[in-house]
Amino acid sequence: MVDVFDLVIFGGGGDLSRRKLLPALFAGFVAGRVSADSRIYLTSRSGLKGSVHDWLKDVFDESQPACDVSKDDLKTFSDMVSVVELGLTKGGEDWEGLKAALACEDDRPLVHFLAIPPGLFTSTCELLGQYGLNGKRARVVLEKPLGHDLASAQAINTDVGRAFGEDQTFRIDHYLGKEAVQNLLALRFSNILFEELWSGRTIDHIQITIAEDQGVQGRAGFYEGTGAMRDMVQNHLLQLLCLVAMEPPARLDADSIRDEKLKVLKSLKPLSGAEIDRNVVRAQYQSGAMHGSAVGSYAEDLELEQPSSTETFVALKAHIENWRWAGVPFYLRTGKRLPDRFAEIVIQFKPVPHAPHPNWGSNLSPNRFIIRLQPEDHLALRMMVKNHSAKSEALKEVEMNLDVTGDDVIRLGPYLRLILDAARGDQSLFVHRDEVEHAWRWVDRIIEHWDSSGEPPESYQAGTWGPYEAHDLMTRDRREWFHETSGRKVGK
Ligand code: BG6
Repeated sequence: MVDVFDLVIFGGGGDLSRRKLLPALFAGFVAGRVSADSRIYLTSRSGLKGSVHDWLKDVFDESQPACDVSKDDLKTFSDMVSVVELGLTKGGEDWEGLKAALACEDDRPLVHFLAIPPGLFTSTCELLGQYGLNGKRARVVLEKPLGHDLASAQAINTDVGRAFGEDQTFRIDHYLGKEAVQNLLALRFSNILFEELWSGRTIDHIQITIAEDQGVQGRAGFYEGTGAMRDMVQNHLLQLLCLVAMEPPARLDADSIRDEKLKVLKSLKPLSGAEIDRNVVRAQYQSGAMHGSAVGSYAEDLELEQPSSTETFVALKAHIENWRWAGVPFYLRTGKRLPDRFAEIVIQFKPVPHAPHPNWGSNLSPNRFIIRLQPEDHLALRMMVKNHSAKSEALKEVEMNLDVTGDDVIRLGPYLRLILDAARGDQSLFVHRDEVEHAWRWVDRIIEHWDSSGEPPESYQAGTWGPYEAHDLMTRDRREWFHETSGRKVGK
């Protein structure tokens, strides 16, 4: 299906637009998913340097799209893109100009993508309303994080709601647009095999990790004062937790999926005081070595003059208080400057209740089901089989691997999928206002406790798996992070 739409990227010259949105749109255009009749407007306070064509060429040299950049394609795509110089805090001639540019005969969708700091969401939506750019064909896409706590998120939701209805509002979490995340839903709800085992009766615990090897260079304005809890846990990690833990929805439509995710967020056991100190680890990276080269600390990367208490690493243990998950810990972890980049969910099953052979007891490993979301989509099931090479009745652990990427799939990336969904008005992969607010409610208690304790975050050396306390979070429960057990990547 080829989509025709008008898209305005507010913050069109910014980091998100350059690194993710434009490369995704270009790849979509080359793959024939975005029609050349679509129009893309990039708003910028002071315009862009040089022609759109040359600017885009630089953008694609830096953030390579998932396709070749041929001269012809670049030329046609540049013709679809215009730049609008626009201030986002008050109206005027520039807004009249945008309104005139967006006038059109047909009822093609008009998507406003707010790739700007959340502090500008209110004024931008107000202006969109004032200039009549919020009509039936319009939708607004809000990039995360939505606010910096519950109160600011509620205020933004209410302000945006004055110009756009909930059915026109698309709160993006790009993790929900990842192919592997779609696959998680398919896997859970189209196979009786897994669903029957999916509860505390057979599952010992679940680990969800988003590890990044990158630091935070060049993101000072955003990252300092935001930190991993707001940047990654409040949204991506809690959304993955919802998809793993939710009940089967009656239908795979937006309302049913969002209702089930919301129930999970409402069932998260709130943490407070000493429970936070015990179950939530936060840390900041110090200088170290990555892939054989020396790298600087967080403070050096951001050229900070004062010490900072912003965390770049979080590991925590959470519980969901319902019948299915009572007593099953969920360990969530994310960090910058870790040794590797991957996102992975590990479902660890309970040990067998009895070893019927005396030689088995000591080398029985629990079954694990590993869902790798990136860099590759991969499923692995770890099981015990007889060890043929050993003389006695010994066992060995084997891994059944399933590469679900598919050779012929054009990997268009999450942002294109989500922009196309927004253009079509499909909210299934977007986050409802109530989900955002419940996620903040849970996370706020932790952040408030950190703020009031006055304690600095722990430290870890860049290129390591975080501070000792993250390791301890597992070992004191007699468990281990999967990478520590396996010592290697899944499927390799
Ligand atoms: C973004 C965060 O939402 O997700 C970044 O703001 C993070 O800090 C990024 O690097 C990770 O996304 P991905 O898709 O590269 O894992």
